[in-house]
Amino acid sequence: MTISERVESLLGQMTLEEKAAQMVQVPYNAVSREEALRWAKLGAGSFLHVLGDNAREVQQAALSSRLGIPVLFGIDAIHGHGLNDHATIFPTQLACACAWDREVVREMGRVTAREVATDGLHWTFSPVLCLGRDTRWGRVDETFGEDPYLAGELGVAIIEGYQGDSLDAEDSILACAKHYIAYGEAVGARDACDSEITERKLREVFLPPFRKAVEAGVATIMTAYGSMDGTPFTANRRVMKEILRDELGFDGFVVTDWDNVQSLVTRQHVCENLEDASVLAAKAGNDMMMTSLGFYESVIRAVRDGRLQEAVLDEAVRHILTVKFRMNLFEHPEKRGVPGCIGCEEHREATLRAARRSVTLLRNDGVLPLKRGMRKLAVIGENADSVVAQYGDWAYFTHPDMNLDHPPVRPYVTVREGLEAICREQGIECVYHRGCSVEDGLYSDIPGAVRAAEGADAIVLVVGDNQKQMGEYRDRADLALSGDQNALFGALRATGIPVITVLVASKPLCLGETAERANAVLCGFNGGMYGGQAIAEAIFGRLNPAGRLPISFPRHSGQVPVYYNALPGWHGGKYVDQEETPLFAFGEGMGYAPFAYDGLTMDADTLTAEVSVTNTGAAEGTETVQVYFRDVVSSVMTPVKQLIAFQQVTLAPGERRTVRFELRREDFSLVRPDGERVTEPGEFILFVGHSSKDEDLLQVSFRL
Ligand code: BGC
Repeated sequence: MTISERVESLLGQMTLEEKAAQMVQVPYNAVSREEALRWAKLGAGSFLHVLGDNAREVQQAALSSRLGIPVLFGIDAIHGHGLNDHATIFPTQLACACAWDREVVREMGRVTAREVATDGLHWTFSPVLCLGRDTRWGRVDETFGEDPYLAGELGVAIIEGYQGDSLDAEDSILACAKHYIAYGEAVGARDACDSEITERKLREVFLPPFRKAVEAGVATIMTAYGSMDGTPFTANRRVMKEILRDELGFDGFVVTDWDNVQSLVTRQHVCENLEDASVLAAKAGNDMMMTSLGFYESVIRAVRDGRLQEAVLDEAVRHILTVKFRMNLFEHPEKRGVPGCIGCEEHREATLRAARRSVTLLRNDGVLPLKRGMRKLAVIGENADSVVAQYGDWAYFTHPDMNLDHPPVRPYVTVREGLEAICREQGIECVYHRGCSVEDGLYSDIPGAVRAAEGADAIVLVVGDNQKQMGEYRDRADLALSGDQNALFGALRATGIPVITVLVASKPLCLGETAERANAVLCGFNGGMYGGQAIAEAIFGRLNPAGRLPISFPRHSGQVPVYYNALPGWHGGKYVDQEETPLFAFGEGMGYAPFAYDGLTMDADTLTAEVSVTNTGAAEGTETVQVYFRDVVSSVMTPVKQLIAFQQVTLAPGERRTVRFELRREDFSLVRPDGERVTEPGEFILFVGHSSKDEDLLQVSFRL
């Protein structure tokens, strides 16, 4: 039988109760073991956050139920299978995005899939395809940055990595593009609040990454917590049915976020009771309800009372069963994965590669790479030696469901450890001092740090944020460095010893003088297991950093949101007390070899652009050639520039290469007020170069 015949045949045997249960996802840690087994026997469609023998027991219970429909196990494997304490931890999506490299991200997805599958699980709630435009938001680290094109490209790569060639492969898992949609755009960056956008803007900015994810065959989509124009996304039939299914052609299933159905009553106040909420959510196109367990009884009652047609349930269950059949779950309820692969050497090499590719050098007066022959290096700062800060959110020691109380499991390398190892090899004295805590008022010994640095040839100061300043419920109004980190920088700078500022943080922070007066600035974000090693290698020139920012760094919290692809302003977009430019721009990043561009051409008939890039430095280096465009006159306002392509070239010193881009008409499109995406004839400007900054771009005008 074909999959659709098998689905119809099974659906035809299901009772109303079994259909309702199939639409429920049970949070293993929020119910007792007995309750979990009861749900499995009722035919619950899925469980989340359950591992090992507990998962096996649940699956056995499901398989022994009347129809024996296997359960899908989902987990937040967000940057690696991080809720397993022996898994390979990758840099966060934001850190990986600095590599601007689809292969790096695809490999992260592949490795994560293998490890998740080896734990017998089927599904990761990843990737996040929301955009990190307002950096006050606590979940910016989970995004691929601020740009819809880059987020879409990297989103496709990671989905390909997770899902592999075929969903039924032993080491493929389901990806979940989330949070649909515009969740990152909540007003004031207050997590899960209303997103003040229109449908046109939704289509222009927030839909493109999801469209690409659907085209890439993403199997599941998670809805967002928030709302748009007064309609909770959970209840937004237009967005979920008309746009996602009818227009984009999504053929997987939609899962809600945590307790979205219940929240229609308790938080968003659009329903009086859970029964109304269940009817609304089901009709709007949610197929599976995460954690709102009362949905089960409510929806059964609603169908019996004639308030909801059973056909609505049929449609949802059809979507879920189709994915289960595509996974071959009925023949192989437990994924085998690749036994022995969790945290294996090959996987650890992959995360080291990703960490190395993500290191981004933002400023350098020549102090880097550190010169041979130095005698003493001072490493200062709490985040220089905090693997918890280095891993960031979604790791086993931060998530309540994992209940682990042992210290982080090795291997990992902090910045301190990475630098100490190189110093040992080179006979350099390496001293470490914590300086101050990231958290306000916990610990500060600035004089001690200055004393430790005495006589050093260089100081590496690691600044950043900590677990309390990132993640859900942890948005920040003030993005300035917390604790005494600025004062610590000031005191170290006053010694006259060169200071290299390193950022180990979940997202861009307002670094002020700590960046502006530093001799060099390196950004590592949350670099995963070997983030510290990659930074150390960059500092000593064993690695020529090639990262480029996927997100702008604001100068001041009052300046956010600041992103490069803004609509043109009328008065220059300036503040009286602050410049309009970001501290570091989208696409920015340097290495130890500069690149020169020349000879940009654009053939308007074939839409082929060419540019020559030359490595004018003394080291081999990798350049990310970035292509932006502007529509000179358009019927609606369009961004001052928008990224539409990029390519990487690795060039030897003195090497020159011509890079060619085959563009398409639709790359130059806009979204009209009626929602249609069109390319309007007229004049366009193509920008090609090193970053989104005007001074880094060559430009050529052409007509379509
Ligand atoms: C988050 C999701 C996550 C889910 C399950 C929610 O609170 O918003 O991103 O996948 O929890 O843990």
